[in-house]
Amino acid sequence: MRKIYFLLFLFGSIQLNAQSDSSKMQWFSDAKLGIFIHWGIYAVNGTSESWAFFNREVPYPAYMKQIEGFKAENYQPQQWADLISESGAKYTVITAKHHDGVALWNTKMNKLSIPNMAPVKRDVLSPFVNAVRKNNIKIGIYYSLIDWSHPDYPGFRGDSSRYKVKDDTLRWNRFRHFYQGQLDELTKTYNPDLYWFDGDWEHSAEEWQSSLVRQKLLTNNPKAIINGRLQGLGDYDTPEQNFPVTKPSNRNWELCLTSNDNWGYRQSDTNFKTPYQIISIFADCIGMGGNLLLDIGPKADGTIPDEQIYLLKELGKWTKQHNEAIFGSIAGMPSGHFYGSSTLSKDSTILYLFVNNTGAKNLVIKGLNNKIISAHVLGKGTTITPNIVGKISWSPVPGLVHLEIPNEAQNEYITVIKLTLDKPLNLYNGKGGFN
Ligand code: GLC
Repeated sequence: MRKIYFLLFLFGSIQLNAQSDSSKMQWFSDAKLGIFIHWGIYAVNGTSESWAFFNREVPYPAYMKQIEGFKAENYQPQQWADLISESGAKYTVITAKHHDGVALWNTKMNKLSIPNMAPVKRDVLSPFVNAVRKNNIKIGIYYSLIDWSHPDYPGFRGDSSRYKVKDDTLRWNRFRHFYQGQLDELTKTYNPDLYWFDGDWEHSAEEWQSSLVRQKLLTNNPKAIINGRLQGLGDYDTPEQNFPVTKPSNRNWELCLTSNDNWGYRQSDTNFKTPYQIISIFADCIGMGGNLLLDIGPKADGTIPDEQIYLLKELGKWTKQHNEAIFGSIAGMPSGHFYGSSTLSKDSTILYLFVNNTGAKNLVIKGLNNKIISAHVLGKGTTITPNIVGKISWSPVPGLVHLEIPNEAQNEYITVIKLTLDKPLNLYNGKGGFN
């Protein structure tokens, strides 16, 4: 009997765990937009983040010397947080430590940190975390598992490494102790809503002790979300710079994307995407049920480049006007029904069509087995009268829904059409007419 109770208890708690697992992802699925921040000593001379010495573009000592220029004299964390709020983003992820090993916070695990070695002489992470929390934005901590500066880490430069794990397990154990100690510090100090790992590819799950790390983070906070770069033990996928053509995954996913060509600040990189390009990529992401994590790279003095401020503000105007089509929506129609992206309300009775403003004003939806109760241009209120084309009374094939957007109702970037349906979305996928 006892055994049965025990088994029932076990089964119950397994179920509970599974439940809390999917429910903890809810805020993330609803959030849609996050702002990624790469801030580190690489901003001083505008070298590529960590990779500059790894790839021998810059000698290691010259790369590290940049720390002497990290003054952060114009750093206003509240302004950063306000700009993030203005963009409409619901979460942010900041590089607490990149592959170069330089910690933004006051780590006690080694000496390589901004508070300890840079002229700013203080922890620059905590004030940002506080400002973000004040604005009700979730905080994600990016932490590089790789640490190319640590004397006990095997990898150093692309063409030379210190040792191999299998040849010196004691040394590797020392590194593991170090990195897991830093994670404990981050957990205790910030209790992040999300851990964004990077660099897992250099070692196996077993070598990193991924499952132990996951278990520790979740014991501290069962609601913490872990990105997919922990050798298979994360909660969601992180395609990088990969514009979604087809839906990347059936579980949660997030596209991380630079606003120009690099993650960190580089004066020489002026190849910024336009607001239209970013908004249309964003619409594609949410239409396929994903999030966008858009990156900015503040300068070493703590200011955000003007071009990135502009992008975030333009994005903010658009997200504000189209709030209901974005936040809390779910993926829209699969391809084939509409030449564009779409989202749905959670109960699937409202369909939002994203129309790229490339001059197209005549839209067609195919195979829509619903009655349209109303059609409007979102944020403008302009009513549209659908024109049903080719509906034959005896055929099960729904007519084509033609919608014409008046010129004056078009959005500068992407126009959103709101269709209220008679019942949850019902798509017809069969063949037409007689076979
Ligand atoms: C890559 C790079 C890194 C960057 C990250 C962001 O993994 O190593 O430099 O920070 O992607 O996704």
